[in-house]
Amino acid sequence: MARTRVGVLISGRGSNLQALLDATQDPVFPAEITLVLSNKAGALGLERARKMDVETGFIDHTLYESRKDFEQDVDARLVQAGVELVCLAGFMRILTPWFVEKWRDRLINIHPSLLPAFKGVHTHDRALEAGVRVHGCTVHYVRPEMDEGPIIGQAAAPVLPGDTPDTLSERVLRAERKLYPACLKLVASSGARVSAERVRIPDSLTLDGDEQLINPS
Ligand code: GRF
Repeated sequence: MARTRVGVLISGRGSNLQALLDATQDPVFPAEITLVLSNKAGALGLERARKMDVETGFIDHTLYESRKDFEQDVDARLVQAGVELVCLAGFMRILTPWFVEKWRDRLINIHPSLLPAFKGVHTHDRALEAGVRVHGCTVHYVRPEMDEGPIIGQAAAPVLPGDTPDTLSERVLRAERKLYPACLKLVASSGARVSAERVRIPDSLTLDGDEQLINPS
């Protein structure tokens, strides 16, 4: 069966991208990464992709008059590369409704909290301030409202005594690196479809491994 052609948008370190690149090395994985685009020139993620012979591109958002002008070039590059599904992996630009609707149900994101808790930035600081005992990460389809959209999968990470934002972030990142490939696999194998703004996953796919909830510890 043909593998789903995936484009990944990044802005920085790219540790989630690395997890996706590693997963897609398996020839039976239902997706392949065909393009990695960054809005930051020195993004470490670009280097990670090049090392694995994946096409990369840098599109400098500061050179554009408007968000939509920037996104039109991003979109053109994705289309040119035959991308069918877009993964956001630490892409630090807010997307306009134009882009989000153009890629509706073909655009997914990873967010470092158990949504709908802690939308936005500084999620680990806010989780510690709130005193939650369980934190984690979420992979979801993207909608125009920030950190909204049908949830594909979530992974939990405990908050431990003495945690700082850094130690908590590292634990959540370990969960992210398992969750994102698992969710991409579900989406690319047509196992996670949106219906009435909920993600439906057939029983046959959830039976082995329970990929909707992955607790890595
Ligand atoms: C991750 O925490 C991800 O959840 C958030 O941005 C961070 C990106 O980290 N959206 P990396 O670039 O994948 O290492």
